[in-house]
Amino acid sequence: MNNEKRFYITTPIYYVNDIPHIGHAYTTTACDTISRYKRMKGYDVFFLTGTDEHGQKIQAAAEAKGETPQQLVDRIHQTFRDLCKLLNASNDDFIRTTEDRHIRAVQAIFSKLIEKGDIYKGTYSGYYCVPDETYVPENAMGPNKTCPDCGRPLTIMEEESYFFRASKYVPQLIEYYETHLKAVMPETRYNEIMSFLKGGVRDQSVSRTTLKWGIPVPGDEKHVIYVWFDALVNYVTAAGYLDDPEKFARWWPHVRHMVGKDIIRFHCVTWPLLLIAMGVNVPVEIFAHGWWTVDGEKMSKTRKNVVDPFKIVKEYGLDPFRYFMMREVPFGNDGDFSELALVGRINSDLANDLGNLLNRTHRMIQSYRGGVVPKCTDAKSELSAMSVNVLERVDRAMNDYAFDEALKTIWEFIGRANKFIDETMPWKLAKDESQAERLDFVLLNLYEALRLSAMLVAPVMPETSQRIWKQLGIQEDPTKSQYDAFTWGDGAGMTLGESEVLFPRIDIEEWKKSKEEKKLQEEAAAQAAIEHEEEISIDAFKTVEMRVARITKCEEIPKSKKLYKLEVDLGYEKRTVCSGIKAFFTPEELEGRTIILVTNLKPVKLCGVESNGMILCASVKKDGVSEQLTLLTPEDKDIPLGSRVS
Ligand code: MSP
Repeated sequence: MNNEKRFYITTPIYYVNDIPHIGHAYTTTACDTISRYKRMKGYDVFFLTGTDEHGQKIQAAAEAKGETPQQLVDRIHQTFRDLCKLLNASNDDFIRTTEDRHIRAVQAIFSKLIEKGDIYKGTYSGYYCVPDETYVPENAMGPNKTCPDCGRPLTIMEEESYFFRASKYVPQLIEYYETHLKAVMPETRYNEIMSFLKGGVRDQSVSRTTLKWGIPVPGDEKHVIYVWFDALVNYVTAAGYLDDPEKFARWWPHVRHMVGKDIIRFHCVTWPLLLIAMGVNVPVEIFAHGWWTVDGEKMSKTRKNVVDPFKIVKEYGLDPFRYFMMREVPFGNDGDFSELALVGRINSDLANDLGNLLNRTHRMIQSYRGGVVPKCTDAKSELSAMSVNVLERVDRAMNDYAFDEALKTIWEFIGRANKFIDETMPWKLAKDESQAERLDFVLLNLYEALRLSAMLVAPVMPETSQRIWKQLGIQEDPTKSQYDAFTWGDGAGMTLGESEVLFPRIDIEEWKKSKEEKKLQEEAAAQAAIEHEEEISIDAFKTVEMRVARITKCEEIPKSKKLYKLEVDLGYEKRTVCSGIKAFFTPEELEGRTIILVTNLKPVKLCGVESNGMILCASVKKDGVSEQLTLLTPEDKDIPLGSRVS
């Protein structure tokens, strides 16, 4: 195969601290779409996806669930494999960062860069976002020293650390980007990255001593390799960097990454700088897509609006979901997911435009020509002329990852074919013997328009394209066919297969009614699930003494996974309290917080420490385990310590 016609595409590897949502489904579907398209254009494609299984987030999630990190990653990574299957993703490999092949590659690269002097040992002190596992430079902090990405409070952290000499290679990367204007796409992201690079990049901390769940630094096992260094390397591991140099030479020069806009600095700055240090080429293209909101709101567990791809596919089918994701928003922009919009697309684009063209054409060839596609001497028409232009425009759009543009172009063609029926009125031609040749011409053209449309939608809707070809009487799998081999008119003489409805129309009123009913049922079920305590008198309530206090010190209790030992100040006295909130806060996040303390509980000994009170928290529990937890704090932080809560 021609060396130029290779295409290596990757999704980010997904964190396994939680189950998949539409954001994950989106990148996988986009990579699958481009992979399938390129294969149909004659490219040799390698499509990689996988899971990111180390780091603080995973360790904390495992602790919260009472599992070991290994148990958690083994369990949750499977749901990401299931997602690939659900989405009909044609990935060629699925990498897990806990696999031996990967651990060896990460350690080999780390050692190589130490040897080269590009990784060195130093001390790091800075503002750190624990949930995002990233240090935040002071000039990038949000208001009140918060993380600019997630808005949560930053913690000062100091640790011995290995550093990657990123600064050394910045000029080389700037020069590369200056001569490769499409290396980062879309253009806004390119500009963002260039100005970031030109602002200067500091050497980057690439190890941690604060956690255990990671790949050990070779020869210095007190450190684990920073999760982002570990994660980015997956792209070279799977391409055979360490174990298969031939494979690596085959794929690496053709690598493209597709990522969400939130992780472009890691991909467009850190990663290429590491690759330059490693002495291999930087990615050919990195495309950053936007984020989905849901019914206009940010997707979050608290809002309970996280879109579950498994549920959507079950309810609406896979291809409509894939079509919606690729069609609804320009790739690169943020977009809004709503089931109503999805239903709208199913009814108008799929059932109406595409479905009708197929039904009408199938029915007419069946009744006017006994189900055999007529031949004619010259099949050239305005549809065939348009098809040439459509193929070119689709190709341009696909090369720019403009999936929505490609689909709009295909739908223009489908619309034109539907109009062709209205204009040529085959039902009239059928009544007039002298128009037999004209009718042959019209029917063949419609058949060809469908045969091509099915091929064109194949990368986005592989199953649907097969269903269409089957109805057209073609046994071959369209997803395995080649665009360049398509010749207008070749369909003459084919015998149609059986007809079936592609996409049943959804009655919007019925749909709305059933959604409303479902919502009411869910609300009722949620109400019923709330466990209420027995009624008490106000006097009984008054016996609970609660006061405002401040946490002055927070320490680990060596024997306990869940508890912290807290020193609290009530203004009139200081106390020691044990609290099972370790999974949700670092000591730094707790020290200095004003809280509410139950002060008249009998002291108890917990893991050898006497606890004199209880901190009030609100939490969301699943199967008895807190999934989400927040401290109760007085609105006015200046209220004197010791104030009574009533
Ligand atoms: N593990 C890292 C990636 C390491 S790659 C070397 C990670 N994982 S993630 O699971 O948190 O996110 C994976 C991808 O999902 C990211 O590209 C992110 O942008 C994307 N999305 C997460 N939420 C999203 C939406 N609401 N909408 C669209 N994509 C979003 O980051």
